[in-house]
Amino acid sequence: MAEQLWGGRFSKTTDEMINDFQASISFDKRMYREDIEGSIAHAMMLAKCGIIKEADRDAIVSGLKVILGQIEEGNFDFSVDLEDIHMNIEKRLTDAVGEAGGRLHTARSRNDQVALDTHLYVRRQITEILRLIEDLQAALVETAEKYGEAIMPGYTHLQRAQPILFAHHLMAYFSMLSRDFSRFVGAYERADIMPLGAGALAGTTFPIDRQFVKKELGFGDIYTNSLDAVSDRDYILEFLSAASILMVHLSRLSEETILWCSREFSFVELDDAHCTGSSMMPQKKNPDVSELVRGKTGRVVGHLMAMLTTVKGLPLAYNKDMQEDKEGIFDAIDTVKFSISVYAAILRGMRVREDVMRRAVTEDFSNATDLADYLVKKGMPFRKAHAVSGRAVAHCIEQEKYLQDMTPAEYKELSDLFEEDIYEAIAPETCVAQRNSFGGTSKEQVKMQLERAKRMMREETAKHGALLQKEPMLL
Ligand code: ARG
Repeated sequence: MAEQLWGGRFSKTTDEMINDFQASISFDKRMYREDIEGSIAHAMMLAKCGIIKEADRDAIVSGLKVILGQIEEGNFDFSVDLEDIHMNIEKRLTDAVGEAGGRLHTARSRNDQVALDTHLYVRRQITEILRLIEDLQAALVETAEKYGEAIMPGYTHLQRAQPILFAHHLMAYFSMLSRDFSRFVGAYERADIMPLGAGALAGTTFPIDRQFVKKELGFGDIYTNSLDAVSDRDYILEFLSAASILMVHLSRLSEETILWCSREFSFVELDDAHCTGSSMMPQKKNPDVSELVRGKTGRVVGHLMAMLTTVKGLPLAYNKDMQEDKEGIFDAIDTVKFSISVYAAILRGMRVREDVMRRAVTEDFSNATDLADYLVKKGMPFRKAHAVSGRAVAHCIEQEKYLQDMTPAEYKELSDLFEEDIYEAIAPETCVAQRNSFGGTSKEQVKMQLERAKRMMREETAKHGALLQKEPMLL
């Protein structure tokens, strides 16, 4: 085994099994880019403050850039003996550039280094997730506009409730995703705080310039307490909460997609390219993608629970438990990015069966509220109108027909307020058009929603662009 960078006070090398147990290189190597960016900013700061010589800084910076190239080309041998990404890179640098490499870790600990890397990594990943959310929102808007006329039954308790525009249903998910977008922006803001300079926990004896590092790396703020800087994992908890809520939204959409493409509903048909078959049953076309997104929601929620539990009893400041933050967040990032992307594809490839939806709203009682509202508009108190409409429904069930099939005489028997215009009043198109209150399902309201949505997407794109501007330019 190679000698450890921290081996000075030890008389034995680490037990092989312990070594494997505590190493994080197998997963934290993902943050190689952030580790190198952070080290370049740190070396520049050390030289600027006169803590290392400019020649040492130059050797460090060019050495790190060579290492970046090696990693990206797959020419870097990651070593478990060197524990983590920080020591793998530092050791390789020192092997390459000699003493200058040994000066890089001046006024720094792995505790503030790993915090810095993770902040940079999470921040960068959030900008990608924001872009994907925007695209999924665009897919929702496109689909809503493509099927702007389609009327379907809206449900409560999964029982047909009132006719709605399919576009209105889709746009509910748009609103959910807008909140997801702003939750991720919030997580970004908390990740956008610079921890380097906290040292192991208490600050450093060297005359460092934390503002310089903050500026070089494009951070919005700086941790004002060194203990907090190395102990804070709130931004990870926030990221995982935002990710969990987003997954719960996609899971609900998945559940609906699965229902809608079942034979029983037949409201939509998924693109063949997005489904799989059965090895035994030749007729099967399964919505596996939606099922997987629904299934993967559990693991993201699990990562949130795991992290809350990990942090819960930790004393300040750094504890090795915190190394457990990475695998969960990496997996959550992959899962969320994949799930959003596949959902945008599913929506764009989906064929909506407007005819089936239309039939559904004529073969049910989802216009019963409208029947009651009709009577109210003619002067009857709502509670009484509700009872009359309920009796009409009961009568129809007995006669095996629907409200629109009742004769004028049958209507008159229930109330003499009914006139010929009742048939018009309970037609699905009227039921939809009449719900013209703000945020309702009428075409006019849905059109306004779509316009607001497009405006919101423009604002989101601008926000996303502004965040991208903050990306470090050191490489
Ligand atoms: N691999 C460690 C982690 O991810 C880096 C920090 C190690 N610090 C320490 N004092 N052992 O948390």
